Amino acid sequence: MFILPLKESVFLRPLRSGHARELLELIGGSRHTLQPWMPWIEQIQEITDAEEFIATAARLYADNDAVTAGLWERDRLAGVIGFHEINWRSRSTQIGYWLGADFEGRGLMSLASRAFVDYAFLELELNRLEIRCATLNSRSRAVPERLQFLLEGVLRQAERLEHGYVDHAVYGMLAEEWSVKRPLL
Ligand SMILES: CC(C)(COP(=O)(O)OP(=O)(O)OC[C@H]1O[C@@H](n2cnc3c(N)ncnc32)[C@H](O)[C@@H]1OP(=O)(O)O)[C@@H](O)C(=O)NCCC(=O)NCCS
Repeated sequence: MFILPLKESVFLRPLRSGHARELLELIGGSRHTLQPWMPWIEQIQEITDAEEFIATAARLYADNDAVTAGLWERDRLAGVIGFHEINWRSRSTQIGYWLGADFEGRGLMSLASRAFVDYAFLELELNRLEIRCATLNSRSRAVPERLQFLLEGVLRQAERLEHGYVDHAVYGMLAEEWSVKRPLL
C-alpha cells in the first residue's frame, strides 16, 4: 500500500473499507457537480455501494489491473484518482479523477494528476497515458492541458451522459515527453 505525499498535508493513498462512510458523504455532497459528467455515480447511494466500490478497487489493484487512490487533505477525503485498466502489453492506461465540490479550484487535482503521471512513468514504467474528457467539460480538460498533455483528437459521441451523447477530447502523454514537459505547478 502506497502513500504519495503531494504537498504539506495533502497526499494520495488507496481507499480502505473503513473509508466507505467518508466516500459516501463526499459523493452525497457533490452530486450536483459529479452527476453531469459521471452518471455512474448515481449507483453509489448506500454505504454498501461505497464499500463495494472500494472492494472492487482493491481487487483490481491486487490483480495489477488498475490503481485507485483517495486524495486526502489532512484527514479529509477530497477526491479520487485512478488508472483504469492498465494495458501491460502496450504499457498504457487512462487516468480518471474527480473532486468533491468543496475542494475544486485550488489545484489539488492537477497536483494529484502530476504525481500519478510520475508514478506511471517512473514506478510502473508505462509508456503512454491518456486522459479523456467530454469536450464540454472545461474544468476536466484544463487538467491535462495544465500538465502539457497533447490533444490528440476528438472521439465523436463517445459517451452518453444525462443530456445526450457527448464527444471526448483525447489527451496523450508519452514517457519520452514527460521529462521535458513535466510542469512546475
Ligand atoms: C475535473 C475536476 C477534478 C477539476 O477540478 P479543478 O478544481 O478544476 O482542478 P484542480 O484541482 O487542478 O484545480 C484547478 C483550479 O485551481 C486553480 N489553482 C489554484 N492554485 C493552483 C495551482 N497551484 N496549480 C494549479 N491550479 C491552481 C486553477 O486556477 C483552477 O481554477 P480555475 O478553474 O478557477 O482557473 C473537477 O471539476 C471535478 O471533479 N468535476 C466533476 C467530475 C469530473 O468531471 N471528472 C472528470 C471526468 S473526465
